Amino acid sequence: MARILTGIQSSGEIHLGNILGAIIPGVKLSQDEKNESFFFIADLHSLTSLKDGEARKKNTYAVAAAWLAFGFDAEKNVFYRQSDIPEVCELTWYLNCFTPYPMLANAHSFKDKSANLADVNAGLFDYPVLMAADIIMYDANYVPVGKDQIQHIEIARDIAAKFNHQYNDEVFILPEAKVDDKVMTIPGIDGRKMSKSYNNYINIFTPDKALKKQIMKIVTDETPLEDPKNPDTCNVFTIYSLLASETEIATMRANYEGGNYGYGHAKLALFDLIVNKFKEPREKYAYLMENTDELEKLLAIGAAKAKAVAIPVLKKVKEKLGF
Ligand code: ADP
Ligand code: TRP
Repeated sequence: MARILTGIQSSGEIHLGNILGAIIPGVKLSQDEKNESFFFIADLHSLTSLKDGEARKKNTYAVAAAWLAFGFDAEKNVFYRQSDIPEVCELTWYLNCFTPYPMLANAHSFKDKSANLADVNAGLFDYPVLMAADIIMYDANYVPVGKDQIQHIEIARDIAAKFNHQYNDEVFILPEAKVDDKVMTIPGIDGRKMSKSYNNYINIFTPDKALKKQIMKIVTDETPLEDPKNPDTCNVFTIYSLLASETEIATMRANYEGGNYGYGHAKLALFDLIVNKFKEPREKYAYLMENTDELEKLLAIGAAKAKAVAIPVLKKVKEKLGF
């Protein structure tokens, strides 16, 4: 039995990139009988960028609802909100004292963020240590993440190994990143990586009208309606291909290459595809966002299960440290 653990920050809305890149593959892994999954909402991490408490609360529910809408089984697994187990902050402090300063200063995610953000706070700097605590406090074996997070898992491994070495004992399990090479980077409506930070995303959970508006904003070139178009350089076609069946893709390709088919037509076809393909998750999500008491109930059960694992690990750590 392998323990799989992963988290998504509640720093904004959940978008198609998160769904195709993290949620669907994560749910699939969790459905393997051999795995036991700990999936959580990293609301403490979201504080590094988001200061609005109401927005955090709403985003936290949104991330939780998105996991469940795509079929995560919260009863079989462990589903929790990071801040419900504040012991993780205590462990972060202990781990901080085993973390070489240059390791954090050289982390590329920190370097990227600090170069682009106005608010470069110490939380942003220490982000990987909280993430290490998230992982090693629950004895995780595998951590499914996108490529951008691999370095953070290596940092977690290094810190855990350093602690084990210091006390000459296997206090922590060394985690491994699990990166699915098949999952590509989903482009946003401007062709760059789809991301909350670029505000170029498609939120499939938003109501039809707003969803259509987002899709209509996908950037295309100016080829006139009647001319043939190149599907391989078009963002609409790329996103369509990630969701459609082989036959639908072939038909769409023929439409592009045949001419008299405008980008507006392709965008409407993408809208219809999203609405049909994600009918069930969209309904489930809308229901959960209207009934957040149900989310709270599941998260409370998850927090109790998570604590039952975390507290003995923390106790072992404190004994080693002489506290
Ligand atoms: P964002 O870039 O919008 O802030 P996050 O960094 O919070 O997204 O990512 C949450 C999860 O979603 C991560 O596992 C990440 O790898 C995945 N993810 C985010 N954007 C994309 C994308 N454009 N394509 C594929 N996966 C993505
Ligand atoms: N840093 C991750 C991201 O932005 C979110 C995260 C926080 C996480 N703690 C984690 C992911 C622990 C995996 C394991 O995507």
